[in-house]
Amino acid sequence: MPGMTDGAVASPDEGFGTPDRPQIIAHRGASGHAPEHTLAAYDLAVAMGADFLEPDLQMTADGVLVALHDATLDRTARGPADRCTGPGRERTLAEIRSCEVGSWFNERYPDRADPDFVGLPVPTLDELFERYGATVRWYPETKNPDERLPGQPSMEETLLALLDAHDLRDAAVERGQVLIQSFSPGSLRRIRELDPELPLVQLLRTGAVTAESLDQVLDEVATYAVGVGPNRALVDAAFMEAARERGLLVHPWTVNDPDEMDRLLALGVHGIFSDFPDALRERIDAVAAAPMDREPGTR
Ligand code: G3P
Ligand code: CA
Repeated sequence: MPGMTDGAVASPDEGFGTPDRPQIIAHRGASGHAPEHTLAAYDLAVAMGADFLEPDLQMTADGVLVALHDATLDRTARGPADRCTGPGRERTLAEIRSCEVGSWFNERYPDRADPDFVGLPVPTLDELFERYGATVRWYPETKNPDERLPGQPSMEETLLALLDAHDLRDAAVERGQVLIQSFSPGSLRRIRELDPELPLVQLLRTGAVTAESLDQVLDEVATYAVGVGPNRALVDAAFMEAARERGLLVHPWTVNDPDEMDRLLALGVHGIFSDFPDALRERIDAVAAAPMDREPGTR
């Protein structure tokens, strides 16, 4: 497989990360180097030794899960306007596959542009699972899961069916091969009803938690999830302590600045979402070589 490395296979005992072995979560693939949610970005993430690949999931009008961040196609898709603009959920898979999602990256980041990015399609989740399978770990996010159109299947049921089709469900439960995330507590609760053992992570935007509500929010999250994925600005010593008291993992997003990586690693986070898995690897290795002072009890 292009870009694959022997070192990409995750060890079952790695779990979801520890402060001494924080997980590298390739945010939309290695999306700082290649157009987000393209095979180029995912291949690169794997080659860089990322622990997890992060597909944001949107559902097409005909019920197919695709790796796409935005609810609309406008920012990243190029092609005929009647197919490649507007809400993705109103386009069929065939329509979305007729668009390409590489040119925008070359236009926006000319210093990182590559002619090979032009023409890259939106991958389906099935295609991603087929390509990498259990050689990597997965961190899918249900996007807009509460905005289902009439006739569309449930995003959660469709995701679990794909895990089954690719023999990933047992691996998710037994060795953390898959960690499912969402901003929607409803989506995570629906998954929990379908399979109480699948590990879940509740995403938190900055406005979702205040110093006053932190304990209450994390108490609630701990009833159905193994961890939280907070905006990095939420994470400080008090946040880490509150999460630790409840046994919750902390995987902040999206961290591309090396100083911010160092700050979060020093706080003892269990993993970090980054567009630059290679830069994060460098910081993690630097910390391992010269351990930083950590708050007492963060190991
Ligand atoms: O899923 C973690 C992080 O990616 C959440 O933000 O908007 O990039 O999906 P977003
Ligand atoms: Ca995401």
